Amino acid sequence: MFKNFLVSITHNVMSLIGTAIAIATLVLMASLFAMELWGFDGGPYIGILTYLILPMIFVFGLILIPIGAVLYKRKVRKSPGGEGTPLLPIFDLNVKATRRWMLILAGATMLNIVIVAGATYKGVHVMESVEFCGLACHSVMEPEHTAHARSPHSRVACAECHIGPGADWFVKSKLDGAWQLVSVAFDLYPRPVPTPLHDLRPARETCEQCHWPTKFVGDKLKVIKHYKEDEANTELTSALLLKVGGSRANNSHGIHWHVDPGVDIRYRSDDTREAIYEIEFTDGDNETVTYADRKAPEDGGVWRSMDCVDCHNRPSHIYESPGPAIDKAIDSGLIDRSLPFVKRESLRIIQTQYESHEAARDGIVSEFTAFYGESYPDLATERADDIAAAATVLGDIYSVNIFPQMNVWWDTYPNHIGHEQSDGCLRCHKRSMRTADRQQVSNDCDTCHVLLAEEEENPDFMSVLRPN
Ligand code: HEC
Ligand code: HEC
Ligand code: HEC
Ligand code: HEC
Ligand code: HEC
Repeated sequence: MFKNFLVSITHNVMSLIGTAIAIATLVLMASLFAMELWGFDGGPYIGILTYLILPMIFVFGLILIPIGAVLYKRKVRKSPGGEGTPLLPIFDLNVKATRRWMLILAGATMLNIVIVAGATYKGVHVMESVEFCGLACHSVMEPEHTAHARSPHSRVACAECHIGPGADWFVKSKLDGAWQLVSVAFDLYPRPVPTPLHDLRPARETCEQCHWPTKFVGDKLKVIKHYKEDEANTELTSALLLKVGGSRANNSHGIHWHVDPGVDIRYRSDDTREAIYEIEFTDGDNETVTYADRKAPEDGGVWRSMDCVDCHNRPSHIYESPGPAIDKAIDSGLIDRSLPFVKRESLRIIQTQYESHEAARDGIVSEFTAFYGESYPDLATERADDIAAAATVLGDIYSVNIFPQMNVWWDTYPNHIGHEQSDGCLRCHKRSMRTADRQQVSNDCDTCHVLLAEEEENPDFMSVLRPN
């Protein structure tokens, strides 16, 4: 029986090819796997090859074997000579021409292997690049790619945060990727791309490649400028000393206390993570404290362990709010503060909905010049250049924060740091979040920062910080 089977698979071309494919892929998979064990880090896409593509080819080879065997049996039954007829081509190594052909074939195969290996290596590197992730599906990833290019992480590749090192995560992300290709090809993808990402790799394995959670940061001074919507665009200064803190010996304090190795915080929230219902906090001594929002639903929602991304949900895809974006442009001199009502008008015009970036740039310029033409006709001609320059800057701000074709609007992707764009920290640090014995999660302003000034004109301390 077994001998019959062996004959049937070794005497037909299809089974032989199948066997060759299976063996070749097996050897390749084994050597890639061994390389990984020895510490060669080929990056996520080598993994796709080892664990996804090669196995598929391997299975294809395996399937060819029985198909070939069945076809062989059928052919043998039908052939006039019956079982004894040779069906495979005969290679006679005594013939000089055959020998020469075999040599050429062997040489060509080796060359092919080198070429394919080189191409694969190159291809893998291309797929890892920011350009590939951000631009291969250009319109879909345009918001993320644009925001990433302007962020502190613009030199960190997409794959470092979204896939991370090692082989386990990429199969998952590549299966997702395959589906994404289909959804882009057939225009099935959601606009905007939903947030949060429920299957983001844990921050421990991504962010902590480069940042360590126990690093002591201490207090961080932040000085923020705002401008009033009056004719003079009056400058207001806020200043806060953020208690970022971190580990100091065995005693962790401040905001980074949440990610201290001894602290474990889990929370239950709705799908968007904007509404938090319940918090379970366990400290080093394994004492668990449970806080619940008395207004929240008793059950339902999703549990999650708190990590970096629960506060830093926008480390790389940072979208500004209209007010602060304009304030920053005025502060840095890109928009001329001496233009009357420039803050108020910028704010009004930049919140119009346009169909594309081009339409926005044109619309903003004409709205902006129209305002000065009507309200300040003399100034409009005298300072036409300053007005045009400010309008251009507004168009830039619009184009890096708003993406009409993906339905990304000012409030699509709120930042959880602080409490400006969303409730942020106050999702947990609020009065209604209490233990059974009515102890609440701290929400005094002083818990998180010392407010040195809140929207003040010329606060005293500024003369110390920036004399002259
Ligand atoms: C510094 C780490 C980091 C880098 C680099 C990074 N991302 Fe992200 N990205 C994140 C985090 C964190 C989230 C999830 C936010 C959440 O779930 O709340 C995210 C979310 C996303 C989302 C979902 C939409 C959203 O904004 O929430 C897309 C799409 C995305 N990233 C694509 C990319 C692309 C494309 C690149 C490269 C151009 C990239 N990312 C680079 C950290 C990163
Ligand atoms: C490949 C290394 C790398 C990874 C991975 C990485 N970062 Fe960073 N991160 C950096 C570097 C480098 C800087 C400093 C950039 C600078 O000073 O301009 C930085 C800066 C930051 C800052 C300060 C930003 C600011 O405004 O100055 C925060 C917050 C941060 N990272 C959070 C994260 C989070 C959260 C993750 C995981 C989602 C992450 N990082 C992943 C390298 C990395
Ligand atoms: C409870 C919320 C919270 C968590 C959790 C959190 N951070 Fe932060 N982190 C902050 C705040 C707030 C700041 C100061 C923000 C600012 O500078 O505007 C900060 C600042 C930083 C900075 C900049 C420090 C500097 O020197 O300027 C880095 C880097 C950083 N965080 C990384 C991380 C990493 C990595 C994790 C996870 C291990 C993490 N953070 C977890 C809230 C958090
Ligand atoms: C649970 C922590 C927490 C609490 C409680 C808190 N804040 Fe904040 N607040 C922050 C953080 C973090 C930021 C900084 C965000 C950033 O890095 O831009 C901030 C920023 C601010 C800013 C600057 C905003 C801007 O951009 O101009 C003001 C003003 C402010 N807080 C006022 C208050 C006041 C008033 C209270 C009390 C009613 C309060 N905060 C309570 C965490 C907190
Ligand atoms: C998922 C819920 C949750 C979120 C989100 C959250 N915190 Fe907390 N935080 C807690 C809990 C629980 C405690 C411990 C109870 C307490 O101190 O009242 C705590 C404690 C703190 C403490 C005191 C730490 C110490 O030294 O003992 C600070 C400061 C703080 N949080 C700041 C922030 C800031 C700033 C943010 C936003 C960037 C933030 N938290 C976001 C749950 C949260």
